[in-house]
Amino acid sequence: MRVIDIIEKTKNKIELTEEEITWFIDEYVKGNIPDYQVSAWLMAVNFNSLTKKETYYLTKAMLNSGDKIDLSSIKGIKVDKHSTGGVGDKASLVVGPLAAACGCVMAKLSGRGLGHTGGTLDKLESIPGVTISLSEERFLNQVNTVHLAIAGQTQNLVPADKKLYALRDVTGTIKSIPLIASSIMSKKLASGADVICLDVKFGSGAFMKTTDEAIELSNEMISLANQAGKKAVCFITDMESPLGKAIGNRLEVLEAINCLKGKGPKDLENICTEIVSYMVFVSGIRNSKEEAKKLVYEKLRDGSGYNKFLEFINAQGATTNTFDESFVSCKEIIPLLSKKEGYIAKIDALTLGLVSMRLGAGRETKEDSIDPNVGIVLNHQCNEYVKVGEPLLYIYKNDKWDENIISDLYNAYSFSDKPIKEFKTIYKIVE
Ligand code: URA
Repeated sequence: MRVIDIIEKTKNKIELTEEEITWFIDEYVKGNIPDYQVSAWLMAVNFNSLTKKETYYLTKAMLNSGDKIDLSSIKGIKVDKHSTGGVGDKASLVVGPLAAACGCVMAKLSGRGLGHTGGTLDKLESIPGVTISLSEERFLNQVNTVHLAIAGQTQNLVPADKKLYALRDVTGTIKSIPLIASSIMSKKLASGADVICLDVKFGSGAFMKTTDEAIELSNEMISLANQAGKKAVCFITDMESPLGKAIGNRLEVLEAINCLKGKGPKDLENICTEIVSYMVFVSGIRNSKEEAKKLVYEKLRDGSGYNKFLEFINAQGATTNTFDESFVSCKEIIPLLSKKEGYIAKIDALTLGLVSMRLGAGRETKEDSIDPNVGIVLNHQCNEYVKVGEPLLYIYKNDKWDENIISDLYNAYSFSDKPIKEFKTIYKIVE
């Protein structure tokens, strides 16, 4: 087989065979195909897409490129949750403990945030002592005893994705539905869960800008899961504006804890309770989605979700259980005062994500270190009324700063004289 023929076929929209795709991925992982040829193929995929069959063969080849986690020794239905990435998205920190408190078993391997989207691992590691480097034995043991573990993906879990993702990141080939679907699903299938709940975001702060794109990606991922004999469900959720009020690692941990205590922002609570209710229902813990939801709210109200969070972080090495104001230490908290009066019509998620990255809360390159204390806390969310001089948000800063931050934040806001049409946090659930 020759790489040039594979590139030519995709360039000319001729379907590749399973043998061709498997050979191409295997040889690339072994280091026998140079990045420039793979880049050319990725660009051809970006323009011409792949057929459903090709996407499945690609996912299978990526899945088989490294280790797989075997969860079969753990009793019950194992659930997993993944988000396509958003601004202020701390939902996994709420979903995991709440699901485990309801009796679900969740084994999650997670990635780090890059660019304007924060990663669950960075948020967890912002808690003193918490480690995300768990051996397979410790991971499985914790899933068995605590019913929840969240760890970093090991080096050899889907190595094909590690190489391809890094290349896509620098060749302008991230945004392709078959490439995103195969990247996410190869890792989720390698992680071994029976049911995969996917939070597919659309809007300014997400990869998918429109609901149509998010639905197309969802259908592709569900089909890949089904072909591999697993179940997947996609929650299509709004990422025009940030999720919740906090952006930045420790600030988001505090907000997740508030949510677990039943005092979180409604948009975050809504997404988390919907996902957990689904998990409770598919795990057979309750017979209907309504009964499942009742149980979820019970566990939120009686503190079981928060207690499970403490049990989970303690199992992963936490050296503190004190989550008050002292948890976030920064040099300055700067309010951004409104220059306008009216209803907040939009707070651009992408802008806020990029500003918090520039404050040090996120990474531009994989090598960057992050500052767990900095970020942004909204004083008001969309559709709330503000007066001139009232804080729109608070900036938590340490040393990183640039002179455009304030003007960029003002530009992220649009206002309206009337309340905007109530938008739904969850646009659609696709099964
Ligand atoms: N997340 C992934 O894991 N892969 C992609 O391609 C995009 C988002």
